[in-house]
Amino acid sequence: MRMITGPRWLPVAAAVVAALMAASIAALLTTIIERKHEAKNPYVRLVDVREETVDAAAWGMNWPRQYDDYLRTVDVTRTRFGGSEALPAQRIERDPWLKRMFAGYAFSIDYRDRRGHAYMLSDQEMTRRVTERPQPGSCLHCHSSVIPTYRRLGHGDVFAGFEALGKMTYQDAHAEVVKTGSSNPVAGGNELRFEHADGVHPLGCVDCHDPGNMQLRVTRPGFIRGIQALAASAAPVPHIPSIERWRAGNREDAYDPNADATRQEMRSFVCGQCHVEYYCGPKATLFFPWKNGLKVEQIEAVYDAYTFDDGHRFYDWKHEETGAEVLKAQHPEFEMWSQGIHARAGVACADCHMPYKREGAAKISDHWVRSPVLNISRACETCHPVAEAELQARVDAIQDRTHALMERAAAAMTSMLDEIAAAKARGASDADLAPAFALQRKAQWRLDFVAAENSMGFHAPAEAARILAESIDFSRQAELAATRLAARS
Ligand code: HEC
Ligand code: HEC
Ligand code: HEC
Ligand code: HEC
Ligand code: HEC
Repeated sequence: MRMITGPRWLPVAAAVVAALMAASIAALLTTIIERKHEAKNPYVRLVDVREETVDAAAWGMNWPRQYDDYLRTVDVTRTRFGGSEALPAQRIERDPWLKRMFAGYAFSIDYRDRRGHAYMLSDQEMTRRVTERPQPGSCLHCHSSVIPTYRRLGHGDVFAGFEALGKMTYQDAHAEVVKTGSSNPVAGGNELRFEHADGVHPLGCVDCHDPGNMQLRVTRPGFIRGIQALAASAAPVPHIPSIERWRAGNREDAYDPNADATRQEMRSFVCGQCHVEYYCGPKATLFFPWKNGLKVEQIEAVYDAYTFDDGHRFYDWKHEETGAEVLKAQHPEFEMWSQGIHARAGVACADCHMPYKREGAAKISDHWVRSPVLNISRACETCHPVAEAELQARVDAIQDRTHALMERAAAAMTSMLDEIAAAKARGASDADLAPAFALQRKAQWRLDFVAAENSMGFHAPAEAARILAESIDFSRQAELAATRLAARS
């Protein structure tokens, strides 16, 4: 019996051993997978970050690598401009034609080069456009970690708070953001480098990441409404496939970027919350003019069809020299990128401006958001395996061409202004000049669209050239109209 019992137990013992081995192999595999996962996304949650945690330093305790890079958005300008007190160069001094184009508008008194994200709030607080001219609370939409304030003022409804803050003056709205800030949980024992004394912060981690699971998300009401209007339009958007998919569906719910967009799309959408054309004047709530599409003339058509509550047609300001009602363009990076080959090929803002980098076993996204030409090997060579000098030369060629064409458009704009002013001096009435004014509006809008866009043509070279060519044509047509008027009178 024993002899038999032994061998009868043997398979069982073997099975137990095998099971144990399988379990330990599984455990080993799990560890390997976990390590790999850790390497991809390594963090320990030391601090509980929430929707109210606008202070990036608190997040930095959990994700120190990303935080360290984020802090460098301060350093770069220190080296370039020699100290945190120094101000970036005035664009209106370097390019005097800008001053003429903006005659009569706040941009003619103070308009500077952009710099790193860390400065977005302090630069806004001290621009003479804010200190010397009345500005609306909506300015804070893109220059501060404002969402908790929207939520507080809207009693839980971010969009209601957005409307409320937009109706306030800049100063009153700023005070509300301070009020939210002073009750914020802040991280203990860390260097709070971006904290204003009053607890107000510029762009923080919470503006691009869900504090619960760290997924990318968009929070800005202006973007959410704008992209919904774009989705609901008929404009082709082959570079945003999730919109095309939504359009093919039943459309019962509005397009929701946070639910419908792909991860790759989110890598551009987070930037599109701010790097866009917008209207943010006193007469209407901030909006992104995308309901006809993202091209320069589609946006223009939105403004041309828009009337203020007082019944007047939309305009940003009356040109001081001519009296024409004209438009101001603002940094349309998202719109220009949308017209370029990279967007069409599925390349996102973050691919070039926040490229991956290796730190030990970890592969992380560079949170030092900056110009890719400072970082060509990681920003471009992953996709273009050619020498760095060659890539730099391609960027230079595009930017030099765009800049030369922009100077031609500026010269055309300047002679247009001269000619319209001369016609006025000779007694031409506003009614006589109406056709010239309409052309001036078109010419300036196009020139400004390219000038205010911050890549000097790189994001969409052919589109930038097309827009500038149209600007030159409209300026010369306006000039001709004014000259003919003089000849007739
Ligand atoms: C909350 C609004 C906001 C978001 C979101 C945002 N930016 Fe910015 N960005 C700004 C502002 C404002 C400035 C200018 C700051 C200044 O000049 O003080 C700026 C500046 C920049 C600069 C110039 C940096 C320098 O050193 O000169 C780059 C490049 C840039 N942003 C790219 C991006 C990219 C890429 C994304 C998305 C990953 C993004 N931004 C997301 C508002 C934003
Ligand atoms: C839709 C987002 C958005 C809104 C709203 C917004 N900005 Fe900005 N602002 C940006 C971005 C992006 C930049 C950086 C790119 C640039 O400088 O062209 C910037 C740059 C700036 C700068 C630095 C460069 C310069 O122009 O001198 C100042 C100052 C500024 N904004 C003030 C304001 C004021 C005042 C308002 C309200 C009238 C406002 N911003 C509203 C997104 C926005
Ligand atoms: C294929 C790469 C690429 C993509 C994609 C891309 N950019 Fe750029 N971007 C550039 C280059 C190159 C420049 C020119 C930099 C310079 O002149 O220093 C630039 C310039 C800028 C600048 C001015 C930076 C500075 O320091 O002068 C901003 C702001 C910006 N891009 C935002 C965006 C946003 C927002 C998106 C997405 C909607 C985007 N970019 C997509 C390559 C890219
Ligand atoms: C302007 C938007 C923006 C801000 C602000 C921002 N991030 Fe990110 N972050 C990104 C993008 C884009 C990615 C890439 C995500 C992807 O590809 O899914 C990313 C990825 C990450 C990841 C995943 C790992 C990696 O590096 O790819 C972590 C962790 C992270 N960010 C932490 C932070 C922290 C901490 C802060 C604040 C100090 C912060 N982020 C601020 C846009 C942002
Ligand atoms: C994620 C991949 C990716 C990255 C990163 C990337 N590119 Fe590209 N690039 C492409 C693709 C794809 C095309 C289109 C090729 C085609 O369809 O022929 C392209 C096209 C170009 C072109 C031709 C543009 C035109 O209008 O014909 C230039 C120039 C260029 N890239 C330069 C750069 C530079 C400079 C950088 C870094 C700032 C960069 N790229 C980053 C993928 C990338």
